[in-house]
Amino acid sequence: MIVYYSGYGNSRWVAQTLADRLQERLAFLPDTSAEIALQDGEAIGFVFPVYAWAPPRLVLDFVRRMQLNRRPSHVWFACTCGDEGAFTRQVFSRALRKAGLNLDACFCLQMPETYIAFPGFALDTPANAQRKIDDVRNDLPRIVELISRRERQHFEMIWGLFPLTKTYVLQPLFYRFIITDRHFRVTDECIGCGRCAKECPLHNIRIEDQHPVWQGNCTHCMSCYHHCPKNAIHYARITQGKGQYYFKEE
Ligand SMILES: Cc1cc2nc3c(=O)[nH]c(=O)nc-3n(C[C@H](O)[C@H](O)[C@H](O)COP(=O)(O)O)c2cc1C
Ligand code: SF4
Ligand code: SF4
Repeated sequence: MIVYYSGYGNSRWVAQTLADRLQERLAFLPDTSAEIALQDGEAIGFVFPVYAWAPPRLVLDFVRRMQLNRRPSHVWFACTCGDEGAFTRQVFSRALRKAGLNLDACFCLQMPETYIAFPGFALDTPANAQRKIDDVRNDLPRIVELISRRERQHFEMIWGLFPLTKTYVLQPLFYRFIITDRHFRVTDECIGCGRCAKECPLHNIRIEDQHPVWQGNCTHCMSCYHHCPKNAIHYARITQGKGQYYFKEE
């Protein structure tokens, strides 16, 4: 079984491709019960984006709540990131250990950058984004092979510079001071289509009087911003002129 979370589609594409090739069941984490019934000999894999040099907190919360009926034959994760995962493996391994599981393998895949709600952060150029997707597409068969032969003690990660500081010092600050939906605003361009609400993985947007209203349970995935057909959503003034991206199936 593969449990995945994805804000704007990068990790969904990776999870779907892996599930197809491994012939695994796929479950979208925000809509999945934490009680998971595994079949005899079944493995469990997790696919998620890196948020602030760690797994997203909603993924860690899920692992804490997770109840498995039996021990999986193999435990792995694949994270997608714009640049680097830093100590994502250590954080996820710790959460797994608390849930009584050991990590057997992990993979880190560079996909197009999408976090733009911070001054100075920008999207990849289209050419760079496409190069990353092509590289991952070419690498996925290798990962499928390693997972299907239940490879153990196989840990791949893109560390980047100062990983310890990023994961254990900057990440808590990021959640404390930056992750909030209070600064989202909508411009007059809004046509009330409701796509932002439909695309929010946490169901955090209600459409009232044909406009989005954020409900205070946001993980800053930026899906609402990137999917708006009128580019009418902005985060304070930071996202002005930064463009939009989401993974489009070919
Ligand atoms: C809130 C947030 C934080 C992010 N933090 C990081 C990070 O620390 N390192 C990194 O390389 N990419 C980071 N990114 C980029 C994403 O990890 C990357 O674009 C990922 O592929 C998005 O996957 P998704 O489309 O499945 O949500 C961040 C993106 C968001 C939305
Ligand atoms: S997606 Fe954009 S245009 Fe549609 S309701 Fe949301 S803000 Fe308005
Ligand atoms: S409100 Fe927007 S940024 Fe926040 S979780 Fe929903 S889609 Fe993501």
